[in-house]
Amino acid sequence: MFVRRIERNRGFISCGTPHCRALGQNLHAMETSADRNTLLIQRILRVNHAGEHGAVSIYSAQIARAQKANPELIPWLTETLEHEKTHRAMFLEAMPSRAAKPCRALQVWSIGGMILGSVTALFGRAGVMICTAAVERTVHKHLVEQIGFLVRHDPELADIIRSIQVEEDQHLQYAAQRLDPNSGLAKLVGPIVAVATELLILISTRGDSRKLKMDLEQV
Ligand SMILES: [Fe+2]
Ligand SMILES: [Fe+2]
Repeated sequence: MFVRRIERNRGFISCGTPHCRALGQNLHAMETSADRNTLLIQRILRVNHAGEHGAVSIYSAQIARAQKANPELIPWLTETLEHEKTHRAMFLEAMPSRAAKPCRALQVWSIGGMILGSVTALFGRAGVMICTAAVERTVHKHLVEQIGFLVRHDPELADIIRSIQVEEDQHLQYAAQRLDPNSGLAKLVGPIVAVATELLILISTRGDSRKLKMDLEQV
């Protein structure tokens, strides 16, 4: 006997034959996968936008400290700050069409970024370079993971992130070329800043970043 029914209220009407049921299951699997990818894309945008917000705070704090102590750094810090503001705006602009919303804990990023920028700037030019290299290296790692997923599921966003990655890499190279990785300060402060950045990401996203990393590895 053929029983007509709606599969999971998604509009697919199965006549009850094994072939038709299998078709319904496949459609459901495709929809579940699409939903999951949409969620991942929204989480990528949320984390990245929050990260840029934190970067704006870091460089703003470093500029404030460098005014007296290291004025020669101001032009580069100002240019870098403008890049980070542009990146933040690009992620914000990409959100509405993907039904994504900014992180609700942006204040955590403002405060965390300000502390990171201010404390590392106390160590002068070397502290600024160590902070920049550690933060940008952490960002670079996350962006590479995201692009690997997005080229298959949201090429437009992958292109946006690639263009941002070029400037993030410039920040990293600039700082890396101007610090001594073997100095005691670099060995001590570099890892602390890297861990603090990861912690900031973890706390503000309430574990979302770890889940995102695991999900990206599975997809
Ligand atoms: Fe950035
Ligand atoms: Fe950057």
